[in-house]
Amino acid sequence: DAPVRVALLGCGVVGSQVARILVEQADDLKARVGRPLELVGIGVRTPGPRPGIDEALLTTDVEALVRREDVDVVIELIGGIEPALTLILAAIETGKSVVTANKALLAQHGAEVFGAARASDVDVYYEASVAGAIPIIRPLRESLVGDAITSVLGIVNGTTNYILDQMHTHGSSFADALAEAQSLGYAEADPTADVEGHDAAAKAAILASLAFHTRVNLTDVDCEGITGISTGDIAAAERLGCVVKLLARCSVSADGTVAVGVHPTMVPVEHPLAGIRGAYNAVFVESVNAGRLMFMGPGAGGSPTASAVLGDVVTAARNRVRGVSGPGESAYSTPGITDPGRV
Ligand code: HSE
Repeated sequence: DAPVRVALLGCGVVGSQVARILVEQADDLKARVGRPLELVGIGVRTPGPRPGIDEALLTTDVEALVRREDVDVVIELIGGIEPALTLILAAIETGKSVVTANKALLAQHGAEVFGAARASDVDVYYEASVAGAIPIIRPLRESLVGDAITSVLGIVNGTTNYILDQMHTHGSSFADALAEAQSLGYAEADPTADVEGHDAAAKAAILASLAFHTRVNLTDVDCEGITGISTGDIAAAERLGCVVKLLARCSVSADGTVAVGVHPTMVPVEHPLAGIRGAYNAVFVESVNAGRLMFMGPGAGGSPTASAVLGDVVTAARNRVRGVSGPGESAYSTPGITDPGRV
């Protein structure tokens, strides 16, 4: 049978792990899809060898790779808005399935991306965009779509959770803990997005959009990061029996008003979110019928995030083999009413 051909855009912390898994687990992936997954090219900004990567796959002509007629699935792991947006739209326009981890892009241009996907009837999967390896997009998009979610509360940035955890448990300084988070591959290329809360805000916008069947954009999210948190604040929280966590809170009131915000929050030590350590993430969901659910796991880093990407790649590839498309984004069909001030 003809392989499902995959183009990978980006070969950084996550992209290099996705490339590795596509090669090392090729037999398993073939068995799960029913056809081989063939990595046909890796789009990169700068040429040159990368450890563990077949140099023959690398190309700097990323748009040509995306538009190649034989490509079925495009994995976008470049991050940021451009050129990722143009490339994803080109992939959709030329009928490819798209898998992306790009939270900033979806939180700011979700309407355009999902609108284009609907028009071309192609899949866009984005499990890795929120909370790394934790399955949270699919549960909100599919498993819980028949329920009525009332609130989503989460630790959705691994870097800041790592920093706050190090400050609490080892008395580390903010700067030292950030440097460690960077060296472990958790932080964004520009860690400002992590420590100022923008990364968590983008993820909160995606979660709230799915949970409340509306459109929440990054600009709707009230956001405060952790750069103002001192070792004195950490000690004061501990004296009160609390830990400081950067929490994303998404809620909907009875009149349909959606509130989404990201703030450093004092969490009592007995609360389950207080025990989330290191770069782990956790998402609490409350719904009318299911009640309370908690999702927890590695929220950042190369291979955990690659795990979520590969799940999407297998799903998208299976859909192509069967000639069907995925769940779509009916969730985004109504305009959102947001009140960023009320959390
Ligand atoms: N920089 C992000 C984090 C990576 O620390 O959570 C995962 O999106």
